[in-house]
Amino acid sequence: MSKLWGGRFTKKTDQLVEEYTASIMFDKELAEEDVQGSLAHVTMLGKQGILPADDVETIKQGLTRVLEKVRKGEIEFSVSDEDIHMNIEKTLIDDIGPVGGKLHTGRSRNDQVATDMHLYLRKRVVEFVELLHKLQAALIEQAKANLDTIVPGYTHLQRAQPILFAHHLMAYVSMFGRDAERLQDSYKRINTLPLGAGALAGTTFPIDRHFVASQLGFDRVYENSLDAVSDRDFILEFLSHASIIMMHLSRLSEELILWSSTEFHFVELDDAFCTGSSIMPQKKNPDVPELVRGKTGRVYGNLIGLLTVLKSLPLAYNKDMQEDKEGMFDTVRTLQGALQLFAPMIATMKVNKDRMRQAVNQDFSNATDIADFLVGKGLPFRQAHEVIGKTVLYCIQQNKYLLDLTLDEFKQFSDLFDDRIYEVLQPEQVVNARNVYGGTARSQVAEAIARAEREQDQTAAWVKEYSERSQ
Ligand code: ARG
Repeated sequence: MSKLWGGRFTKKTDQLVEEYTASIMFDKELAEEDVQGSLAHVTMLGKQGILPADDVETIKQGLTRVLEKVRKGEIEFSVSDEDIHMNIEKTLIDDIGPVGGKLHTGRSRNDQVATDMHLYLRKRVVEFVELLHKLQAALIEQAKANLDTIVPGYTHLQRAQPILFAHHLMAYVSMFGRDAERLQDSYKRINTLPLGAGALAGTTFPIDRHFVASQLGFDRVYENSLDAVSDRDFILEFLSHASIIMMHLSRLSEELILWSSTEFHFVELDDAFCTGSSIMPQKKNPDVPELVRGKTGRVYGNLIGLLTVLKSLPLAYNKDMQEDKEGMFDTVRTLQGALQLFAPMIATMKVNKDRMRQAVNQDFSNATDIADFLVGKGLPFRQAHEVIGKTVLYCIQQNKYLLDLTLDEFKQFSDLFDDRIYEVLQPEQVVNARNVYGGTARSQVAEAIARAEREQDQTAAWVKEYSERSQ
């Protein structure tokens, strides 16, 4: 059979043009969604009396057979049928005969492809919320196991103030929580039905768009037919949310890479998540975080790519928009890979508590607290800062830490020092003194963990509800 749109043409399409314009190589991934959309569409055509009931029945049975064949890998998709929509329609017509040609009544590939992508992405969004939830759970478990582990906290990658390692991990739980929230919020925009917009202007048939929406579990339909077929904001939104998630993962990756170096030696990633060197037998490389850090680039690239495709595009559909798919699929795969690996990698990570403690004992990250001590004695903070700066300089020259100084040595810098400074300078004391909501004191971190666990329950309930709704 010739092209589904062949009537107007007198010549065969150039072979190179056929290959250049086809999208079947990648949009075959939308086969399930394409059939799902068609089943709802044809059901509606029957309900509205646009097609007779027996045609509708024949088409539905045919579509179900096509889907089975797709699932079994029995269909040989062909470039000359350009994309998934025409490959499926062609297979249907081959199977049930000319009645299959009635399926496309009142519909265009423009509203069809948009519908397929909405169906596809809403499933992925729910899966990603679930993957983020699992990663948060792994981080929370590690935080619970490290509620007494003190580690240097950094600014400018210089030791700043000691913090609980649990507190550091819980910062990522907050970050991934915002990521999940953004995806959940985007669901309502993804869950809007374009079908019924036709090519751009609507259709002359008395269709019922709201019926199709309810069949497919969409919350609403696009208000404007031009917008329905030219909107790709929902993909852009997903690509930007994915970029932010990758950015978060790449920050964590960078820390894991640093922490597992000999210089830090704060953590050890499980053997199962590392690889060796083909020449240096001693090496154990953190390839997974390195690759996640590296793959962040392609996810950003996919976002910038689609933004650029859409820039200045006149309404409504343009073939340029076929370029929305490969980047989206690539981002879905890249993000799936990263999140699937991160949860077990965090769960199995060994934390070197002794080494962290040793690091804390050998730094000046308690300096702020001793300045605060002098402030408590009535010294203005700026003067206290100056006094401690001098004290630290003295320590560096003497090759000592603050806790090594005698009271007499302290008193060279201020009369206000007394015995209690030895308690004030203890890392536990330094940490627990930061007893503000969201701070690193043990009791605050324990509460933060409890709050995060309550949120986890809510997210789990959301995932359960929405994974049923998005099928
Ligand atoms: N393969 C096309 C795409 O992905 C489907 C829509 C084609 N529409 C058209 N009028 N050529 O964008």
